[in-house]
Formats: sequence, C-alpha cells, structure tokens
Amino acid sequence: MNILAIESSCDETSAAIFTNGKIASNVIATQLIHSQYGGVVPELASRAHQQHILPVVDKALKDAKVTKNDLDAIAFTKGPGLLGALLVGTSFAKAMALALNIPLIEVNHMQAHVLAHFIDDPKPSFPFLCLTVSGGHTQIVKVTGPLEMEIIGETKDDAVGEAFDKTAKLLDLPYPGGPLIDKYAKLGNSAAFLFPLPEMPGLDFSFSGIKTSILYFLQKQVRENPDFIRDNLHDICASVQYTLIDILLKKLKKAARETGITEIAIAGGVSANSGLRQALSGLGEKLNWNIYIPHFEYCTDNAAMIAIAGYYKYVNNDFCDQTVSPMARMAF
Ligand code: KG4
Ligand code: ZN
Repeated sequence: MNILAIESSCDETSAAIFTNGKIASNVIATQLIHSQYGGVVPELASRAHQQHILPVVDKALKDAKVTKNDLDAIAFTKGPGLLGALLVGTSFAKAMALALNIPLIEVNHMQAHVLAHFIDDPKPSFPFLCLTVSGGHTQIVKVTGPLEMEIIGETKDDAVGEAFDKTAKLLDLPYPGGPLIDKYAKLGNSAAFLFPLPEMPGLDFSFSGIKTSILYFLQKQVRENPDFIRDNLHDICASVQYTLIDILLKKLKKAARETGITEIAIAGGVSANSGLRQALSGLGEKLNWNIYIPHFEYCTDNAAMIAIAGYYKYVNNDFCDQTVSPMARMAF
C-alpha cells in the first residue's frame, strides 16, 4: 500500500511516500526567499510552492522507488495555513488523484504535527498530552486516539514560535530567528535578565505581553548603551528562551496535574528547540512522566507527518471528494 502525501501550508513544499507501514521518502524544499523580508510573504510562498511541487513529488516517488501508478491514495494538507500556499498543494493533490482515479485524503496540519509521533518508535500510548508549538499555534492537545484529539489549552494571541521570531527580529537576526535564538542561548546566562510572566487563566497561553516587555526592555537598554544588543546577545537569547520555555512548561505541568495523564509529547517547529527538549526531559524525570520528543526532521513542517495522518484516515475509509477546498483556519 502506497500513499503520497503533500504539505504546502506555509514556507515548506514537501512530499512523502508511506509504504507498508513506513515512511519510504520525505522530501522538503525550504523557501529561503522569505529571510530577506523578515517573515513569510504569502504571495511569494504560493509562487515558490508552484515551482517546487512537481520536482519535490517526483523526487519523493524516486527516493521511495515507487511510480505514480503504484499509488493507492493521495493525502494533502487542507489547513490551517496560508490560503494561497494551501491552494497549490490541494489543487495538485486533487488533479493527480483525479488523473490516477485514486482516493483523496484531507489532513489537518495541526493533527499531523501530533501524529508525527507515530512515524517511529517509541510511540506514546493513549491517552497522551501533546504540547504543539509552532510559528502559528501553541496548543495543549489531549489525544485519546489516532484521530481523536481535543485542544484543552491554546494561545489567545501570538504563538510561541512568533515570540521567538519577533524577538529575533528585534535583535536584528534573520528570519526565522527561532533556531538562532536557540543557538545563541546555549552560550548565554539564562538568569541575566528577567521578564514578567503572563497571567492567563486555565490552560491558555498569551505571548503578546512578553513580546512587548522585551521590546521596551531593549529600547531602554539601547538608549543607555547603543551596543547593548551586540554586547549581550547570548545572555538576551538565553533569558528570553528561558522565559518562553517556563511559560510553556508551567501550563503543561498544570494540564498533566488536572488530567492525571503522564504520557507527554511535544510537536511542531518549536519542539526542535534544544532548551525546551532538555527542560522537558528534566521535568519528565522529576515528575515520572514518559516523554516523547520527535526527531528533528519531523518537528518542523514535513509531509511525512501528513502521510502518517493520511494512513490513519485511509484505514478508516475517511476520504474526501473533488469538491474539497483548502481552509486557512481549521478546527480539529
Ligand atoms: O511547525 P513549523 O515548521 O511551521 C508552522 O507550522 O508554523 O514551525 C516554525 C516555527 C518558527 O517560528 C521557527 O522559528 C520555530 O518553529 N523554530 C524554533 C526552532 N526551530 C524552529 N524555535 C525555537 N528554537 C528552534 N530550534
Ligand atoms: Zn507546522
């Protein structure tokens, strides 16, 4: 059984082949063009997806040693994401499924991030909690089955990935700044500067206040010392990263306490952050949690996670028809 999966929700064009229970290929074309604009430019993302999609799908088939006639179904990201970007992957998947006369499977990108944990062993057992942290989302998801998920906490404003990227922008680092903050944080003192923690009720998050306090803090310091950022870059990155991780893990601890669940996973682009991975492992040891952290390649956007989500829908006969359209916003 062979499923082709296509991901085009943001700035990565990716295709993967799932063959007999395993990922046989996973090809990702990252769009570098956005770094010069300090963020993803939707129109440029759509155009780059148009350029990349055919060679990326072609390579995924070749890497898996599969031809298009061997395919049994095509899965694609329906949303959430940038509408123009999603349209490219959706139209491509629909056209190819129509031409090959095979079923089409729509996949929710955020569910797929969670299901990335089922690509390799060890796999979490149900129920588990997944902290899904990306450039567009920050969610605590209670997962009771492969396709049964409930968001029990989420951000009410910015996503944590945005907080990383916007801080990086203030520090004059290129987009996406999250990985660079991670890199410099390793060289700095996380207790050098203190930032106030947001007060959000329940399991929800807020990251817009911290972004503003970082901005005011930097403006004040730079007025006193124009070289402040250059002189303290590592300490600033370490302190900001420490604060963002602290906000995430405090809520995750609360969610575990309230649900009594001790199977804990992280997913999404920010789960590539080494400070978060380390802090979560430490917390897991302390609280006797079983921790699940995805391989780096399955943290940021990729089609392998779309393929695994597509597989679960395939075995449930959960297909869509040619009238399907992408959705920029999409609930589970
Ligand atoms: O899941 P993803 O690839 O795309 C979305 O669906 O948004 O996540 C991208 C986000 C960006 O904000 C990026 O800066 C962040 O993940 N990110 C990181 C790291 N690697 C990626 N943030 C902090 N540390 C990292 N190592
Ligand atoms: Zn994502």
